Order: sequence, then structure tokens, then C-alpha cells
Amino acid sequence: MDSEREHMKTDFLVIGSGISGLNYSLKAAECGEVTIVTKKKVMESNTNYAQGGIAAALDPLDSYDQHIQDTIVTGDGLCDKEVVELVVKEAPEKIKELMQLGVQFNREEDRLSLTREGGHSKRRIVFVGDSTGHAVEQAFVSNVKKRSNVHILEGYFAFDLIIENGRCYGAYCLNNYDQEFEAVYAKATVMATGGLGRVYEKTSNPEIATGDGAAMAYRAGAEIEDIEFIQFHPTLLDKEETEPFLISEVVRGEGGILRNWEGAPFMEKYHKMKDLAPRDTVTRAIIAELEKGPVFLDLTTKKKQFLEERFPTIYKRLKDYGISMHRDFIPIIPAAHYACGGVKTDLNGRTNIDGLYAIGEVSRTGLHGANRLASNSLLGCLVFSLRTADASAKEAEKRNNVEKKIPEFRLSDPGEPEEGLRRKLRSLMWKKVGVIRNGTTLQEAMRELQKIDKEGTRLTTEGINERRIELRNMTTVAELITKAALIRTESRGTHYRTDYPRKDDINWRRSIKLTKTSSKSNTYI
Ligand code: FAD
Ligand code: SIN
Repeated sequence: MDSEREHMKTDFLVIGSGISGLNYSLKAAECGEVTIVTKKKVMESNTNYAQGGIAAALDPLDSYDQHIQDTIVTGDGLCDKEVVELVVKEAPEKIKELMQLGVQFNREEDRLSLTREGGHSKRRIVFVGDSTGHAVEQAFVSNVKKRSNVHILEGYFAFDLIIENGRCYGAYCLNNYDQEFEAVYAKATVMATGGLGRVYEKTSNPEIATGDGAAMAYRAGAEIEDIEFIQFHPTLLDKEETEPFLISEVVRGEGGILRNWEGAPFMEKYHKMKDLAPRDTVTRAIIAELEKGPVFLDLTTKKKQFLEERFPTIYKRLKDYGISMHRDFIPIIPAAHYACGGVKTDLNGRTNIDGLYAIGEVSRTGLHGANRLASNSLLGCLVFSLRTADASAKEAEKRNNVEKKIPEFRLSDPGEPEEGLRRKLRSLMWKKVGVIRNGTTLQEAMRELQKIDKEGTRLTTEGINERRIELRNMTTVAELITKAALIRTESRGTHYRTDYPRKDDINWRRSIKLTKTSSKSNTYI
């Protein structure tokens, strides 16, 4: 391999091409050369599948205060108020910037249409049909491609950060097209790797969401915070054999009703906001009802034409499965959707490692607390990626780019052993560290995860490939989620333990921070 090794130098290395990485890149390109590495095609990201929209207090009857309040109530005592205020107040400006990039939000005559989701006291979500994320991702990709000093490297899997003396110098990547290991050296390295939903058997997330960023950063010594707060979306289409398909919460915002196996609406029993209660409440209510039989979403009171026009993607996908949205109840189940915690950052994306920044879903900023308010994720991504671009550009000016000797990596063919372990891990996390947990299930999960970890480590010493390293990353984040969930002996936000079913307002921990304590190397070798 040695003679084939490539070295690349850039000012800003961005790992990930979702909304955060691309927004960051556009801004950073004003100050230097940007290299984006992304493990699949450039469009492939959680962003691309976002349906509902982006929250912003734009209605004259709405206010920043109400958006702030809804975010804080949903976050269940753990939001950082200063962060929430900052993000909410920047929201209208961010929507304007997206429109300048070419995103065409739905409109009613001279103003933007606004819809509603769980936890929002007002209609305050701008949207592009039911495929807002795709429209946003497309606009960013086409704008980024116009910049000659932004290089997009598709099929580049970043697998470890280059760290020396507490500073990050870039990342090691596996170039999947040429099957070569390459090092990308940078003055600023930005983790924009998105979420970790694939750690769970049932998830709304696409294949890319394996928690690589959080695992890599953890190995390098970064602080991980609030990772026990995994948000489960209440309504995914319940079809075993298909790739996950989300039925947007906006469907309930526009009048959809949850019904149990008897066809009876049930949310009134659980929350005064009924079907539009915060997600954690709706999810647990559905889990309780699923004990007795299947649960459905009902839109049969809505006109076919309205549903076809307002939810074209969902309508068509359901039709492909033989479900007519205007006539049939839609079978649904909850599934892992969003990581509220992650790599701890300050307001400018800085981690505790010099030269390493984190933005978007991989980061923990304090915006979401113990539970994220719907449609606040894309908003947070927009706000923090820009702030981080400004801060990191200033800091990069003072840093030199260095080259380091690349360690020996051995490539191996992907095989069944890592696939079997992956299936085992995902099923374990769903059953024992899922919507409802307790000390016993968490301890059991930890023991099993340690076995998977051992087996995964053995495989990576034989040789590495993308699937194997993903498995190791999934194992790392699974262990972190489980460990934090064991430490938090209360129920709060998305974290619900049957052995501690209430909030502990006396001995509660504001945050659970996890950092690597062992002296193990920060890479796989
Ligand atoms: P992503 O968009 O996930 O991008 C991550 C990028 O990193 C990808 O390009 C990926 O390939 C790359 N990557 C990952 N690991 C590596 C690696 N090791 N090497 C190289 N590249 C790597 N939020 C809202 O606010 N409103 C919504 O309506 C909404 N709807 C959603 C619907 C669905 C189905 C899903 C899954 C999420 C939804 N969310 C929504 C959440 C929101 O979409 C995400 O939180 C957000 O898009 C994350 O953006 P990001 O830039 O941080 O990461
Ligand atoms: C949805 O459309 O239901 C997802 C919105 C979100 O996750 O913010």
C-alpha cells in the first residue's frame, strides 16, 4: 500500500455533505480552500430525507418568546437558554438565506405557508411539500459545486482523526473508489457527520447514519454529552421488508389522528396536546397501545386531492404499498430518529480538541436538551455551521498545516462476520436500550455490547473495510448511549427508565459527560 498512499493538504477539511457541512463550506470558502469528504454520493445524508420543514417564528401572531418557550418545555429542563435564544432569533434570517440559495418554500399568496408539528404552540414551520430536506440539500449542492475552491470527494470514508499533542491535523480516509488509504491534512477539521440512528434496528435514518463522527471524536479524546437522549419518532410506516419510511409529524399537524387496534383515538388519555404532544410522549403512548394491538394513523377525513398535493412523496410511497391515504388507516411504529446529544461544542462549534470542530446532528450544543422540538434540527444546523465557519477561519490563519507519517492499515474484503454482528447490535439496542429502558436491560445490553466490541476489535486487527469500521463506530456509540443511560437514574425527555419513572429534581445530573479514560491508541491500529 505504501507507494500508493496519497497525501492531501487543505485549509478546511469538512467530513460530511449534509446541510451542516455544505453550509459551512460555502462560508469557509470565502477564506480558503475547502475539501469535503463524504462516504457515499454527495446528496446522501439525513438532510436529504427531512420531510416536515424548518421552524421559525414568522407569523405575526407568533413570537420568539413562544418558540423559545416551546423549545425549552420540550427539552425538559436541559436546554441551555442562551443557546435557544440565539438560535430562535436567527431563524427568520436563516430562512431568508435559504431562499437566496434557491429554496422555494410553499407559499400562500404573498407569504410563506406555515405548518405545525408536535410541541409547537403555533404554526411556525416552513416547508417544501413533504420533501423539504431534498430541496434544501439540492440547493446547497448546486451552490457548492459553483465554488472552484471547494472540492467534493465522494466515496471517501473518514475513519480516524489525525491527532498529536492534543491537536487535530486532519483525518485518515479510505477512498472507496480506488480502495486506497489517504490522509487529508487541514488547519481546521470539521465533523459534520450527522446522526447515529442505524445503531437501532428500527430507525428513520438512512444507511449513512452510523455514528462515525461521535465515535471518531470520542477515540480522539473529545467530550460526549447528553448521548442517552435518543429521540424516537412516533410514526414510521410499519412494513417489515422495506427500507424505513417516515410519515411526517406534519401529517398530524394537518389533522391526522392516531388510532389504536379498536380504531379508537387515544392520545387524549396521555397529553392535553393530544396527537400534537411532544414526540417522547406520543412515542411512549404508542408503545403502550402497541402492547394490545396495531396502531394506525388516520387521514380518512381529508380529501384525496388535498393529501396528494400536500404530501406527494408520502402519498405516492403509501400507494406503492397498496395503502390509499384518503381511504385506509396507515399502520405505524415508532423508531430511532435523532441524537439529541453528541460531541460537546461551544457556541462556535469548538470541541475540547484544538483544530477540531463539530456541527449539526453529531454535535451537542445545548439547543435540544433532553428532547428536540420538531423542525429545530435543520435550523440549528444552519445557525451553528455559519458561526463555526467564522470562528474556524480566524483560528486556522494561526495554524500551520503539517504532514505526519501514515500508519500501516490493512484492507480486507467485507464479509458476513461484520454483518452478523451489526444485526445483533441493532436488535439488542432496540430491545434493551430503546424507548423504554431499565437498569437490568441496560446492564444486559452492556455485557452483550462488550462481547460485540471484542469480536469487532478482533476483526479490525485482521484488516479493515468501511463496514467493519462502521460496526466499530456503532459499537462505540451504542456503549456510550448505554453507559450514559445507566448513569442517569431518572426519566427525563426521551430517556425513560421503568425503575426510575419520574424526574429526579433533587439529585438530578444536569449533564452526563463521557470522555475516553483508557490510554488506548486513538486509532484502530
Ligand atoms: P447529515 O445530513 O446526516 O449529513 C451527514 C453527512 O456525513 C452525510 O453526507 C454522510 O454521508 C457523511 N458521513 C457520515 N459519516 C462519514 C464518514 N465516516 N466519512 C465521510 N462522510 C461521512 N429535522 C428538521 O429540522 N426538520 C425535519 O423535517 C426533519 N425531518 C427528518 C426526516 C428524516 C427521515 C430524518 C432521518 C431526519 C429528519 N430531521 C429533520 C433531522 C435532520 O434531517 C438532521 O438532523 C439533519 O439533516 C442533520 O444534518 P447534518 O448536516 O448534521 O447531517
Ligand atoms: C417529521 O417530518 O416528522 C420530522 C421532523 C423533525 O424530525 O424535525
